[in-house]
Amino acid sequence: MAPIIEIRHIDQYEDQVVTVRGWVQDRTDKGKLQFIRLRDGSGFVQCVAFKKELPEDQFAIAGKLSQESSIIITGSVRKDERAPGVPGGFEIGIQNLELIQMAEDFPITPKEHGPEFLMDNRHLWLRSQSQWAIMRVRGTIIRAMMDWLDDHGYLRIDNPILTPTAGEDTTSLFEIDYYGEPAYLAQTGQLYSEANIAAFGKVYCFGPTFRAEKSKTRRHLMEFWMLEPEMAFFNLEDLMDMEEQFISHVVTRVLERNRSELKILERDTSKLENVLAPFPRISYDEAVERLNKLAAETTDEEQKKLLQIEWGTDFGSPHETALTQMFDKPVFVYHFPSVFKAFYMTPVANRPEVCRSVDLLAPEGYGEITGGSERIHDAELIEQRVSTLGIPRENYAWYLDLRKFGTVPHAGFGIGLERTVAWICGLQHIRETIPYARMLNRKYP
Ligand code: 4AD
Ligand code: MG
Repeated sequence: MAPIIEIRHIDQYEDQVVTVRGWVQDRTDKGKLQFIRLRDGSGFVQCVAFKKELPEDQFAIAGKLSQESSIIITGSVRKDERAPGVPGGFEIGIQNLELIQMAEDFPITPKEHGPEFLMDNRHLWLRSQSQWAIMRVRGTIIRAMMDWLDDHGYLRIDNPILTPTAGEDTTSLFEIDYYGEPAYLAQTGQLYSEANIAAFGKVYCFGPTFRAEKSKTRRHLMEFWMLEPEMAFFNLEDLMDMEEQFISHVVTRVLERNRSELKILERDTSKLENVLAPFPRISYDEAVERLNKLAAETTDEEQKKLLQIEWGTDFGSPHETALTQMFDKPVFVYHFPSVFKAFYMTPVANRPEVCRSVDLLAPEGYGEITGGSERIHDAELIEQRVSTLGIPRENYAWYLDLRKFGTVPHAGFGIGLERTVAWICGLQHIRETIPYARMLNRKYP
């Protein structure tokens, strides 16, 4: 009996007879020869059915195989540098072919399809080679993030998704009915992580987070995955030092593990090779100055308007895009105005209109992928913030408790997984970075 193998291991079976199980990606008919590109989830390999080497009825089936038909083939592995596939360089000469199902006409063909059609057929689109490549990179990124943290003494502690209060802001909450009382899908796990650090020092949580945002941009999802490290005794500088090591590790790991995938996606990897610590750091003040200077130098009136920014307002996409194009690495922007940042961020000493916050903007126009800050740890100050902003104190009593029982300076950040995948894979739109995207106008399939 031939061993059943995964295509990713094919190089270990040169000149041996093996069995592979999978789906027909496509087929080329050359009369006495049928070239079948087979996918098994672990890779892609070209299999050749030659009339003389197969029983007649099996060769007849080979000549009719439709795209996505499921088959089991047995054959000999031949080395051939030119053979397409992933890992590639080998093909299989079919000796036996077993049909499981002849697939009906598959809606997604190698020709071009519009994004809405592809998203309606997301359950099938995931089978295409580019989507396979993206999900594999996503998998590597998740592993790389967790490996780095686990290797540096962080403990993964996950936080609830059903929560009694807003974690970030009250304008983007998904409300659900919790036995007759309102509850909300978590926007962040951060507030709970702030409790967890007093027990575990350095922690992170990782899970789906939810924002009922009315934004229909290429950067926003209603459901996205966020990984959030939180560290006791960290200040803003510690946070940036850690983030740049962490991000460099993630990008390096993808370059090590996913060359084939990046090639399928036609990603310019030279841009990624550059992503090594340290990263440039500029203040919000400097960012505003740079943007207004660029606007002044711009002759295109429309572009000028998009770039101009008044101190005290948040960046829009055009601002972030322009800022990232000034650097060839990710860039930190720190000390944002407190008015548009969350209530828990520490005010800068002697300059309370700005806070100890930092965003990391990914290069090549991608923009914000992480957001973080030093948290207010002073009991009086956090009480003041809560009352000035009119936040219902009783809902946050447990959070305020943390400032009473051994409060310490601390900081943390959240990284959006899908935005990170979009950047590393070089994708135009975030919708392809998550298996089943939830967007303003989409919750199907
Ligand atoms: O900047 P945000 O809102 O920060 C927080 O939620 C903090 N509580 C995190 C922390 O300090 N622990 O979100 C963090 C990141 C953003 O930088 C972005 O990458 C991603 O989450 N993100 C989104 N990604 C996709 N779709 C959306 N609607 C997103 N909103 C935020
Ligand atoms: Mg943010």
